[in-house]
Amino acid sequence: MSADAQAAPDGLTPLNPEVQRCPYDWYEAMHSSGDGAFDAGPLGYVIAGHAEISKITFDTTGFSSEFYGPQGPQLAGVSPEPWSPEVQALWDTIPKLKNALFSCDPPTQTRQKAIAVKSMNIARVRKLEPTIRAEAEALIDEVIDAGRCDFFEAYAEPLPVIMVAQMLGMDGDRVLFKKWSDDIADGYLTPMDNPRRLEVLTSAKAFLEDLLPRIEARRVTPTGDLLSALVNSTIDEEDEAKFGELSGPRHLTDGELLCAVSQLLPAGNHTTTNLIANLLIELIEHPEVMAELRANPELIPNAIDESMRKDAPLRATYRVCTKDAEVSGTKIPAGSLVPMMWGGAGHDPELFPEPQKFDIHRENVKKHLSFGYGPHVCVGMPLARAVSRISFEVLLERVDNIRFAGGVSPTRAAQFPFSAYEGLQIEFDKK
Ligand code: HEM
Repeated sequence: MSADAQAAPDGLTPLNPEVQRCPYDWYEAMHSSGDGAFDAGPLGYVIAGHAEISKITFDTTGFSSEFYGPQGPQLAGVSPEPWSPEVQALWDTIPKLKNALFSCDPPTQTRQKAIAVKSMNIARVRKLEPTIRAEAEALIDEVIDAGRCDFFEAYAEPLPVIMVAQMLGMDGDRVLFKKWSDDIADGYLTPMDNPRRLEVLTSAKAFLEDLLPRIEARRVTPTGDLLSALVNSTIDEEDEAKFGELSGPRHLTDGELLCAVSQLLPAGNHTTTNLIANLLIELIEHPEVMAELRANPELIPNAIDESMRKDAPLRATYRVCTKDAEVSGTKIPAGSLVPMMWGGAGHDPELFPEPQKFDIHRENVKKHLSFGYGPHVCVGMPLARAVSRISFEVLLERVDNIRFAGGVSPTRAAQFPFSAYEGLQIEFDKK
């Protein structure tokens, strides 16, 4: 017999700041209940089971990625709170996005994805590895004599932003890119109030206005980067599928390009930064594992996967339920927002016994879903894997005795849907 979705007990909801800091107990409550979906109030119906999520990712008709609706992303978060007149006025001045990549469904998404994969596949990323290493070395050079640093500012933030911007072919102020990209990531995925919406939309406007002339320039002169590939590729099957006839190949529209690039830049930054910081924190807390990685750097990829399983850098993205659905016996009404809890899947005890334990030798660790799964699986996975692996190879090669500055452990940030820390001050010895 089917049941309506239950709320998780005792305030364990994704809007509770304590759950946002550390969702482990919430994950455990969902898994031990045996239900398929959980009522999360304004955030809809959460799915946390590994098997359930894996299945739903392929049902792109019943669970659509167009969760912003056909009008496209509005970059104002996922809260139901009505927009203030100021937010509306600012939004009216912003170039409009058309759903693309993770905010649209096949066949449109399939074509766009193919273009992005071509420019970001493993072979392309392998060619970038010497550059990633050189950038990592240069960042370490800047702090090595000081013996201490703000790890986010010095290393975990700049490295991903440098590499994603380089792959896209977007030169410019990296600090500004980082600010824009973090705000836009929030604008896509985070619950927020109107004051925060104004900040996020201000960044989005600046970013989109910076991007439009770059798109125009690459229409005239392609420059061999991902942005040029996106601008100059053609799509035809989409028209065929939609209108029943081939209306001829076409290029992506400005709206689609703005949307795709406004996903690529933030999707790769906040996530990879948090992955690098989360793993370093685990290693400082488990010095025996840090020593093992120093002795066997070939285990670094395992440690990366285990960190991603335990603390998915991007804990959730969303689907919208297009018709009444039932997930493992639990009902979800049509029109509901459905957070796909990638982080929850990594704590599913069916696959990962003792999920709160950090164990780089789990045999099945690669089965985590923290890069997504199915048609929307992360297009930046090769880049994220290379950047995070090389960042630890270089860090462990160059410095010893990495520890929390003053012995003070960092505090987890109250963020949904990201696993993040409020800061990370470290001390170390030069090798
Ligand atoms: C540790 C780093 C990363 C994590 C944890 C991560 C996580 C994810 C997840 C969970 C999805 C699935 C979204 C869904 O199904 O709704 C996804 C998709 C995506 N990711 Fe990543 N990602 C990372 C790095 C990157 C990088 C470096 C880039 C690009 C430079 C990137 C670009 C994208 C894009 C464009 C999609 C949408 C793909 C599609 O819809 O087909 N990500 N990512």
